[in-house]
Amino acid sequence: MEHPSAVMNGAASTALVVAALRAIETASSTPLFTDPFAARLVHAARMPRPLPTHPDQVGEEDKALFQLAVDSAALRTRYLDDYLMGSPAPQVVILAAGLDTRPFRLDWPPGCRVFELDHTSVMEFKQKALDQIGARASCDRRPVAVDLRDDWEAALVEAGFDPSQPTAWLIEGLLPYLPASAEEKLFDAVHRLSAAGSSIGVWATAQDTQSAGAPDQRLSAMYATFGIDITDMANTEPRRSIIEYLPSLAWKVEENTMADLSKRYQRPLPSSRRRLTFFTAQNSF
Ligand SMILES: C[S@@+](CC[C@H](N)C(=O)[O-])C[C@H]1O[C@@H](n2cnc3c(N)ncnc32)[C@H](O)[C@@H]1O
Repeated sequence: MEHPSAVMNGAASTALVVAALRAIETASSTPLFTDPFAARLVHAARMPRPLPTHPDQVGEEDKALFQLAVDSAALRTRYLDDYLMGSPAPQVVILAAGLDTRPFRLDWPPGCRVFELDHTSVMEFKQKALDQIGARASCDRRPVAVDLRDDWEAALVEAGFDPSQPTAWLIEGLLPYLPASAEEKLFDAVHRLSAAGSSIGVWATAQDTQSAGAPDQRLSAMYATFGIDITDMANTEPRRSIIEYLPSLAWKVEENTMADLSKRYQRPLPSSRRRLTFFTAQNSF
């Protein structure tokens, strides 16, 4: 039988890293959110050298670097939790859900439908692990296994998505992995499927990854020691700026910097952190 960690390869393995960072944040003294499932999802992968899921498991030499990654993941997770919980949309679509457990840990309004899209291997691994834990969704959760470089609209509609209703879209940690043409197609689909009153929450653009600096290279080297090689995963093809493009389609974009979020959530960060894009957009058509 295939080892569980084998299904979490390529871009999917980055979902394990995010779950580990969320687990460490959850176990910290002042967490910005609580993800009670993150550690168990990481353990379910049974990695030969497991990622840490508690601050005490991080080696002394890796502490500063891990903390940088944990703080960044904590800020974006909380920012996007707040975005989703502030949205009145009756349906939510999480593009590249990975091991995100928002359908299980957030307090959704009654009847809210939450669609989670990711690769088949990731969705199957996640379902099995959550079933073993006995996790119960706090919304009408609809997993949809797709490759987001292909056409995924039909699968989404088949799963019960209603294009006549407003949607809150979530695109967290996906864009750096997509080819330029797939990113264009993805936003064209999001725009086409968005009824009036829809919104989009995004963390990280491909351009962010292209400007990655020394801390990111050191992080990649550290993840490689856990058997997760993210060095060549980002797609570096040049592409249009999505933040500049969305307003031309009548989306109103509100961008936040890491410094804004660090202040809002009182989580100090070293000033050398590179630029990372956080934005939400509301449609006005
Ligand atoms: C960094 S993880 C982020 C996961 C999740 N959004 C979170 O924040 O926990 C990136 C995710 O993108 C998914 N992904 C990347 N390319 C994809 C594609 N072409 N189709 C479907 N999923 C994709 C990976 O499988 C992985 O789960």
